[in-house]
Amino acid sequence: MKSAFRGLLVLILLAASIPGRAAVAAAANRPWLNSALSPDERAGMAVRAMTEQEKLALVFDYFGSLKPDVSYRPPPGARMGSAGYVPGIPRLGIPPQWITDASLGVATQRESADAYRERTALPSGMATAATWNPLLARRGGAMIAAEARASGFNVLLGPGVDLVREVRGGRDFEYAGEDPLLAGTIAGAQIRGIQSQHVIAALKHFALNDQETGRSVLSADIDPGQARQSDLLAFELAIEQGEPGTVMCAYNRVNGAYSCQNRWLLERVLKGDWGFDGYVMSDWGGTHSTAAAALAGLDQESGWILDREQYFAAPLRQAVAANAVPLTRLDDMARRILRSMFAVGLVAHPIGDDPGPIDFTADEQVSEADEAQGIVLLKNAGAILPLPRTMRRLLVIGGHADRGVISGGGSSTVFPAGGNAVPGLGPKDFPGPVVYLPSSPLAALMGQSPLTRVRYLSGDDVARAAQQAKWADCVIVFATQWAAESEDVSLTLPGRQDALISAVAAANARTVVVLETGGPVLMPWLSKAAAVVEAWYPGSRGGPAIARVLFGAVDPSGRLPVTFPESPAQLPHPRLPGESVPQGKRFDVDYREGAAVGYKWYEKQRLTPLFPFGYGLSYTRFRYRSLAAGVENGRLVVSFDVTNVGSRAGAAVPQVYVGPKAGGWEAPRRLAGWSKVSLAPGGSAALSVTVDPRLLSTFDETGASWRIAPGRYDVWLGESSADTRLSAEVSLSAWRHAARWMAGTAPDAKGSRLPSYCRVISAAVRRAGPAWIDRSGSQAAR
Ligand code: BGC
Repeated sequence: MKSAFRGLLVLILLAASIPGRAAVAAAANRPWLNSALSPDERAGMAVRAMTEQEKLALVFDYFGSLKPDVSYRPPPGARMGSAGYVPGIPRLGIPPQWITDASLGVATQRESADAYRERTALPSGMATAATWNPLLARRGGAMIAAEARASGFNVLLGPGVDLVREVRGGRDFEYAGEDPLLAGTIAGAQIRGIQSQHVIAALKHFALNDQETGRSVLSADIDPGQARQSDLLAFELAIEQGEPGTVMCAYNRVNGAYSCQNRWLLERVLKGDWGFDGYVMSDWGGTHSTAAAALAGLDQESGWILDREQYFAAPLRQAVAANAVPLTRLDDMARRILRSMFAVGLVAHPIGDDPGPIDFTADEQVSEADEAQGIVLLKNAGAILPLPRTMRRLLVIGGHADRGVISGGGSSTVFPAGGNAVPGLGPKDFPGPVVYLPSSPLAALMGQSPLTRVRYLSGDDVARAAQQAKWADCVIVFATQWAAESEDVSLTLPGRQDALISAVAAANARTVVVLETGGPVLMPWLSKAAAVVEAWYPGSRGGPAIARVLFGAVDPSGRLPVTFPESPAQLPHPRLPGESVPQGKRFDVDYREGAAVGYKWYEKQRLTPLFPFGYGLSYTRFRYRSLAAGVENGRLVVSFDVTNVGSRAGAAVPQVYVGPKAGGWEAPRRLAGWSKVSLAPGGSAALSVTVDPRLLSTFDETGASWRIAPGRYDVWLGESSADTRLSAEVSLSAWRHAARWMAGTAPDAKGSRLPSYCRVISAAVRRAGPAWIDRSGSQAAR
């Protein structure tokens, strides 16, 4: 470029960036647009400048897509295929809210099926939780939010953090497992990632939306204190760590009252005790009243046309006129929404009309890294994995592995670039179709081992598959189970897949099973299969991620975020609650197991599951030493050394569990912290974990406080909830802290909100425990 021309261009650009008189005047007239002020100040000023009609418009969200069955069209300005749209207020410089699903990628509402947005899909939430790696969760959140922005959206309806209380739950795949600390930490990191792109994250579904059967009519009944120690703790931690702009209340009732008009849940717990200063949006079709909802803490009615009638909008105006809802409450609703828009940067970083572009290659790398660390190696008899590249004949069977990897159904479905790899499966309408992402494991396996002769069979013909299995040096069977929003699943793999695996494994002892499931399944063939790998829903680059783990290019470092039961009889509810209740009829689910969710239930009941929480094998082995439990700044700190004593590089996921000797908790022990560290052969790391006092406490609902009972506690270090390598003992003094936690606890210099809470009176390391024995009777390969 000639220098004179370049100078002119610089001048033109500079001139364009100098605000004109009108803009300066507008900024002076609209002080809430000044980013130097706090979000609270800005929201307060903006609300004072608003008309009542503008406030009413802000708290009412239209469904964002066509609804042909009721001839519904969203207002102009909505983005087709989106979940929601709240018009902006141009007079005040407030942009619209363009709202889309969800936590696994940018989704498209089915009603606009002619125009799917093709976007990058992360692996399922369960896979991300299985990484035990908040950094990956954060990167994934940032990736999908950047795609959301590039697609014209500034509100993303995720992540979800309902605990996996019900392993048959149709949406478990969207969530982050059964433990509040793990789930809350992963979701908190996802929120941070999403909001780093100036996109509001909606943490959902608040609360106890733990099964799909009867989700709009059931009441999740639970002791409030136990809820605070389990499902609610996951939300509390995610909110504390991620500071989401909004929380979405759920479809179900909690202890009798609908979540979106549940005063205890919204006003007392969320906004009161936790000091949540964002807004509460309803789930789509989850609003049931005007004054009752507004007074209980609902701030925005979402996705109207899906509610039976409009509850906010005109009825809310009438309720305010009649003083059934005070004007101050309407102001508070508007203020909360604006506060989040200012805090997350929706106003300072507006979305243009022609956003984009998207770097799909870079985004797929994020997805692949997530899956590669989320894959869990469940069994590896005779160290059959990693597969040798010298292998001559490989047979791959089933799971449409020649074409792609399966994903979950419902509002979270991401339609992939390149289209559905296996079209025509599953329900035509919501929650379908079944979407296979076009990332073929077969092609990736061939890429990993180019000299191996590879054959593929669909697996439809079981006898043929078993016969062909004899030809191969090794067989890999891919098994899939589609799970979807609005329906729950069975624990049994669908179709004839169990029979297929049994027949193939009987014909060839070197059979590896790769599961692509939303959550746990039963494995009647487990003793026959040489190796089993849980790949979950593997995301846009599932094929390469699976192939790299199977061939050892990557060490399997995923660990189970959920317990795999041996049979439904082991579950707190052996039969799915409500399964025989006629559709639409109300019923109650009695969560009498309280906070004993997942591994806590098994340990309390002394049950041995198929695979315990936290479990997963590596291709190398780790040794743990020097466990110490001490106090730093009034907090319990557990430190230890880990060494890679095998001959390959790998990642260890040491887990710290704690439990009171005198009992009194919902279960003998709880996860209190973990670390994930990648080590070269012979490499060591000195690690430490600081324990959140809530994980040492019980919640006293009457006294609205967390309490640590004085006495002796065990501290265990292991590789799963059922595997203790070292243990120590500490004595703790009594401690009590008000439930109003976040609000009352300023972050310290390191940004931690943990208050000082304990005095360790004594600590001593006791013993090394046994390695966990796998179900097939052989010592787990370590
Ligand atoms: C789901 C939400 C989702 C919303 C908008 C509802 O059916 O429960 O998770 O965000 O629809 O699509």
